[in-house]
Amino acid sequence: MVKICCIGAGYVGGPTMAVIALKCPEIEVVVVDISEPRIAGWNSERLPIYEPGLDDVVRQCRGRNLSFSTDVHRHVADADIVFVSVNTPTKTCGLGAGKAADLTYWESAARMIADVSLSDKIVVEKSTVPVKTAEAIEKILAHNGRSGVRYQILSNPEFLAEGTAVRDLLSPDRVLIGGRETPEGRAAVAALRDVYARWVPGDRIITTNLWSAELSKLAANAFLAQRISSVNAISALCEATGADVAEVAHSVGKDARIGPRFLAASVGFGGSCFQKDILNLVYICECYGLPEVAGYWREVIRINDYQKCRFVNRVVSSMFNTVAGKKVAVLGFAFKKDTGDTRETPAIDVCNGLLGDKAVVSIYDPQVTGEQVARDLAMKKFDWDHPRHLQPLSATEMAKQVAVAADAYEAARDAHAVCILTEWDEFRSLDYKRMFDAMHKPAFIFDGRNVVDVAKLREIGFVVYSIGKPLDDWLKDMPAVA
Ligand code: UDX
Ligand code: UDX
Ligand code: ADP
Repeated sequence: MVKICCIGAGYVGGPTMAVIALKCPEIEVVVVDISEPRIAGWNSERLPIYEPGLDDVVRQCRGRNLSFSTDVHRHVADADIVFVSVNTPTKTCGLGAGKAADLTYWESAARMIADVSLSDKIVVEKSTVPVKTAEAIEKILAHNGRSGVRYQILSNPEFLAEGTAVRDLLSPDRVLIGGRETPEGRAAVAALRDVYARWVPGDRIITTNLWSAELSKLAANAFLAQRISSVNAISALCEATGADVAEVAHSVGKDARIGPRFLAASVGFGGSCFQKDILNLVYICECYGLPEVAGYWREVIRINDYQKCRFVNRVVSSMFNTVAGKKVAVLGFAFKKDTGDTRETPAIDVCNGLLGDKAVVSIYDPQVTGEQVARDLAMKKFDWDHPRHLQPLSATEMAKQVAVAADAYEAARDAHAVCILTEWDEFRSLDYKRMFDAMHKPAFIFDGRNVVDVAKLREIGFVVYSIGKPLDDWLKDMPAVA
């Protein structure tokens, strides 16, 4: 019987191991974490992350062949395959600040594995790491491990997207496994392949060398983010010319070489991966003396920052160049629908922009708690472009300027404007007439996700801005310059 242990019970480790446990009842899967509350959450009825379908999977396997524990050492020692799925944030100080991945958690996990292992292990990189991390990990294990204990390092990056994690895990576009091209390396790749082969068709399991697997993950995220920045760049031009970005994206996406997915213009991409991975790619390119390549990818993030800034400027300029003291409803705070995750959400930057202009914001999100919003807005934001921290609001300003509402109607009551920042389905079917009646006039809607029916809202009486759509006459008279 194979035993699997996963270090890190986060957004990646938790769902991935739950699905492995579901599909491989004869494999014992233990997820370990140093965070007691995290593990307590996974052992409770209210899982620490919101992910459609996950409760069901966990309920089926927990207590059967899936468990969650803080006893990291024991379970690592017992396992045949150790997945490492710890966080790899961007460094905020020292060499590579603002770009390089902070491998502190990774290194400490590797040293711990070396310390406690008494039998051979396959160590699998699950969290995204810079290219050549496997080599560093191999060295740590070789120099610190007990004699006679052998390690094989594999790179098996996870491609799941939040909000659709269970679906993505059950039926992935591909599973990628990179390993050393030696007999031992190939045997380790085959062992991991056998695990996935229980539910993933063979032609979807790709095996490569270690470095290709590590780089493919960074490249895939960079390509995805690049599509969004491309369509967002075009959205600015659409607004200037009278073209409609949805029509343009549809026409462009019909080309089979381009494809229709991931072309939705938005207020900007967020999430824990895209910006972090691209910054990482930029840093690696710079380290290898490839400044032109670094510059190419850096622009993807610049356009994303521009898009968020452009949105805030549009709001402020439309409302007579001042939002000071005006209530602005913010609908949606998560970085995308169907998740409560707010890491790198564009809503943080948009809210900070509005708050900087002295607006009073009332925020509603169906999955994000008030405490999370407060934590996010109180966070010193790291400016990756000029490595430094930007000052957040003081506690007094926060108390005066930020409120969290129980629903969209409460958020919009007595507001001058509504900003839609996450594409939650429920925002498509709100009673906008009811909202309009309770708002100051002129009442504005700024749709950062193209979810509303622009014509209908204009009929109700709103001044409507929707990313990349032909502008209201009102907005044409008040151009916003980013
Ligand atoms: C292009 C568009 O494909 C076509 O839709 C448009 O109407 C006119 O411009 P064309 O320039 O004839 O067509 O050829 P295309 O196949 O797109 O190749 C353009 C260049 O890109 C060539 O030099 C080709 O070698 C290069 N290319 C293409 C690559 O380097 N890599 C690729 O993966 C594809
Ligand atoms: C991403 C990758 O999709 C996934 O493969 C990888 O494993 C982790 O990073 P995730 O960040 O969870 O997943 O969500 P994703 O659906 O990719 O969305 C990222 C951001 O892009 C969100 O803010 C989303 O709203 C935005 N987005 C996405 C757009 O603005 N337009 C689109 O067309 C698609
Ligand atoms: P991701 O989105 O990549 O899954 P998360 O931040 O959600 O990232 O999860 C990473 C988890 O890894 C956290 O719960 C953190 O407590 C855990 N972790 C970090 N370092 C260690 C370690 N050395 N041992 C065990 N768990 C760790």
